[in-house]
Amino acid sequence: MSYAETYASWQRDPEAFWMQAAEAIDWVKKPSRALFADNAPLYEWFKDGLVNACWNAVDRHVLAGRGPQYAIIHDSPVTGRTHKITYSELRNRVASLAGALRAKGVEKGDRVIIYMPMVPEALEAMLACARLGAIHSVVFGGFAAHELAVRIDDAKPKAILAASCGIEPGRYVHYKPLLDEAIEIAHHKPDFCVILQREMEVARMVEGRDFGWHSFQYGAPQADCVPVEGDHPAYILYTSGTTGQPKGVVRPTAGHLVALHWSMKNIYGVDPGEVFWAASDVGWVVGHSYICYAPLVHGNTTVVFEGKPVGTPDAGTFWRVIRDHKVASFFTAPTAFRAIKREDPEGRLLADYDLKSLRALFLAGERADPATIEWAQEKLKVPVIDHWWQTETGWPIAANPLGIEALPVKIGSPSVAMPGWDVQALDEGGHPVPPGTLGAIAVKLPLPPGTLPTLWNAEDRFRKAYLSHFPGYYETGDAGFIDEDGYIYIMARTDDVINVAGHRLSTGAMEEVLASHPDVAECAVIGVTDALKGQLPLGFLCLNKGCNRPREAVVAEVVALVRDQIGPVAAFKRACVVERLPKTRSGKILRATMAKIADGTAFKTPATIDDPAILDEIALALRGLGYAGG
Ligand code: COA
Ligand code: AMP
Repeated sequence: MSYAETYASWQRDPEAFWMQAAEAIDWVKKPSRALFADNAPLYEWFKDGLVNACWNAVDRHVLAGRGPQYAIIHDSPVTGRTHKITYSELRNRVASLAGALRAKGVEKGDRVIIYMPMVPEALEAMLACARLGAIHSVVFGGFAAHELAVRIDDAKPKAILAASCGIEPGRYVHYKPLLDEAIEIAHHKPDFCVILQREMEVARMVEGRDFGWHSFQYGAPQADCVPVEGDHPAYILYTSGTTGQPKGVVRPTAGHLVALHWSMKNIYGVDPGEVFWAASDVGWVVGHSYICYAPLVHGNTTVVFEGKPVGTPDAGTFWRVIRDHKVASFFTAPTAFRAIKREDPEGRLLADYDLKSLRALFLAGERADPATIEWAQEKLKVPVIDHWWQTETGWPIAANPLGIEALPVKIGSPSVAMPGWDVQALDEGGHPVPPGTLGAIAVKLPLPPGTLPTLWNAEDRFRKAYLSHFPGYYETGDAGFIDEDGYIYIMARTDDVINVAGHRLSTGAMEEVLASHPDVAECAVIGVTDALKGQLPLGFLCLNKGCNRPREAVVAEVVALVRDQIGPVAAFKRACVVERLPKTRSGKILRATMAKIADGTAFKTPATIDDPAILDEIALALRGLGYAGG
């Protein structure tokens, strides 16, 4: 069937389409139907089925004869080690870990926070939770103690699973002291913590609260898979919104399994048994979907890569991993390729590696700039597929579905809507705009299986943030257009979210930290274009009247404050002091206009501006920092 026929078959009968896709999953009890719309505009999928995610990702493959196949390959250039785990071994490791968690009281519905680097134990922790029906929430290691504390207070975990340390080039990330500090700050306290002691940095344990990863498993019987209802939350993943309070995206179990399984063959074009590699981090949605669940549910081998595209040890690392493990389909963020291209523009290092296993490269997480796509196409000589999705959706909204049909590539577009997605560009009044016209990109409800049904503990926020602006639609927060052939172009965010090295960050959250500095009266953070990371945050500070401290000192302090409060991942390194901020007459800061000045792109002075002269002052300050053509 062609893409057009597949999409049309979904349009004709979505219920039949998804019930058929659900056949690929093992059910304890089959669902009577796919969509449950009784609570519209909140929708649920496969709600009356009973299922277990760990069974589908692990046990069933062992039963089906995949026991000796590698499930996980941990390739860690930062430690110089590679460790391969078969499906049989994974089953035992996960069942033992789950058994030990259950012996300490973790049950279906309990939350468990996972704060770990790129080690196989991070996936095992996720799967052990899934085995028990416990709801995991993985927190990215680049977030500092305060951000972890915010998530602890929102998710209220019974247990936290962490490692003693992570490894960034040139330094260790002290996970355990960060965890101790987060538990200290948080109001909610977990019953216990389980710590994976890594030999390069052994952490101090808190007597009675902390247990060793291996020792706490001693004597606990292995746990079987606990069946859960189709709409039972598999996990909560916090993502940036417009404020400092992150949004807890809820992932329902059954829809997640069905959609991810469907995507592996139809979008990524791999067959069970092949090696799939997503070079991201388990702390992001790409890691949840395409390092952990999708490849395993589909019976692939997944690569857990603990390193960087450059510097570990060089810009040939990705090629080595692809060659060594015979990777068939590879997924990463465009920023990683920009980093490689900068170090090795001619692609000389490619000559050292035979990449014949590789059939396609998939890029997502941020806009893929044409120069990067063209470079990758020319050097790798395989299809380079830009595809678009979000933490909220859990799997691609738009892609070029290689497993169905390789559609013509239009560089600059993540191609077309996948079955399940009715994507529209809307005007302010919520009416679809003509092809080629810029609009707010929205998806007609219901969203397909696997997408967020709500936000954790925040249904009102879910409705307000996603459903209220365009009734009948899900608002993606992205702006763009759709051309005459149905190709979607994603151009920018419509909110205060910025994208730094494929990481989604909130300028609002950074502003909250800047505003907490005693000398700062008012502030704004914008995203400026960066050749490597796509965007970088830049702060503007108005100091309190009478503050006569050196400006550089205040700037250095706020930079340190953001690193301390949000974490190094914010990459907040630059700020400047200005007298005033440009605002509308109603007091709204004109961040988008400031970003355009910084990038040197054409802009119209907004008609609602209070005092246009302030824009000149901003341009001057930006030139002082080397922006705005300075
Ligand atoms: N734990 C702790 N700190 C982390 C971290 C982690 N898991 N990941 C990143 N950081 C730190 C980095 O060490 C860096 O700290 P520094 O300010 O001390 O240098 C900071 O957070 C910013 O990280 P990042 O923006 O990722 O930049 P980088 O210097 O690590 O380099 C590139 C990253 C430029 C090589 C980039 O191409 C890349 O690979 N980014 C990751 C892309 C990605 O996986 N995106 C996920 C979506 S698919
Ligand atoms: P995250 O939730 O962290 O995955 O970030 C999702 C956001 O990243 C989207 O809403 C987009 O703004 C951006 N994004 C992801 N993939 C693409 C892409 N292929 N093209 C353009 N923007 C993208």
